[in-house]
Amino acid sequence: MSKKIIVSGMRPSGRLHLGNYIGALQNWISLQDSYQCFYFIADWHALTTGYEDTSDLRDNIREMLIDWLSAGLDPEKAVIFKQSDIPEHAELFLLLGMITPISWLERCPTFKEQLRELEGRNINTYGFLGYPALQAADILAYRAAAVPVGEDQLPHLEFTREVARRFNSLYGRVFPEPQPLLSEFTLIPGVDGRKMSKSYDNYIAMSASPAEIKEQVRMMITDPQRVRRRDPGRPEVCTVYSFQQIFNPTGVADLEEQCRKAGVGCVECKNILAASLAAALASVYEKRQELLQNPALVDEVLAAGNEKARAAARETLAIVRDAMHL
Ligand code: TRP
Repeated sequence: MSKKIIVSGMRPSGRLHLGNYIGALQNWISLQDSYQCFYFIADWHALTTGYEDTSDLRDNIREMLIDWLSAGLDPEKAVIFKQSDIPEHAELFLLLGMITPISWLERCPTFKEQLRELEGRNINTYGFLGYPALQAADILAYRAAAVPVGEDQLPHLEFTREVARRFNSLYGRVFPEPQPLLSEFTLIPGVDGRKMSKSYDNYIAMSASPAEIKEQVRMMITDPQRVRRRDPGRPEVCTVYSFQQIFNPTGVADLEEQCRKAGVGCVECKNILAASLAAALASVYEKRQELLQNPALVDEVLAAGNEKARAAARETLAIVRDAMHL
């Protein structure tokens, strides 16, 4: 029996941080065996909000790809490719554009939100409005059964199903309606206690070296009321504790108890965390060093993935053109 097809993409944000790793990438990796996975770098989507300055784009694409491979995305199992290398995404985007009412795009919550949030940038563009239609094309080009995403992407998936339904009702049944595959949600705080994010500069890179990890853990905010070593601490307000829960599941209960009675100090607690984190990320760090030594291999992985993706997307587009009598 052939495996179900799933598709997912990530905008190229350069080196990934622990939030990306725990929230999305580990989920992608765990799905590799049970599904036929298509995972791609959404570089066109990056342009929808970042078209003005593209000077970092190529580096960001490459760094993210290296992180994917370092973490364990396996080109033998998953098709790993880059959106802008597959012109069929653009063709399907154009065709879906013909049947997409503008109001569906305008009412998309992410559209309204981002217009507000990215106020300084001019994203009153056709490309930005069309973001969900491009995403629908990404997914439907492979006639995917499901899409692993976080909650924030649910409106885009709902939109994709609506477009698929409209296409099918106009031209005959071509597309399945892709279902979300929600990953378990784990919020990773940044070193300052806010949400971990590149734009806050409070992140720990997924492929950080043991020394970098140590330095970033040292900067983490602990209980502000715990001034002296002999003061008891409150784990519930401590960033180090949040991390211990995720990365030191066997030691966290004891640390919590010790913290509350000042049995362990913040410096020691941080050292323990840094060691657990470094151990959890050691293989990612090492694989990354290997790949940095062998840039040709990274290029080959992408070229081979692009070819497989293209073959699959081409098949769908032949069916689509036929259905539309082109
Ligand atoms: N919009 C997604 C995000 O910001 C990225 C993305 C683009 C995507 N195309 C996709 C995700 C197709 C899943 C399927 O995270």
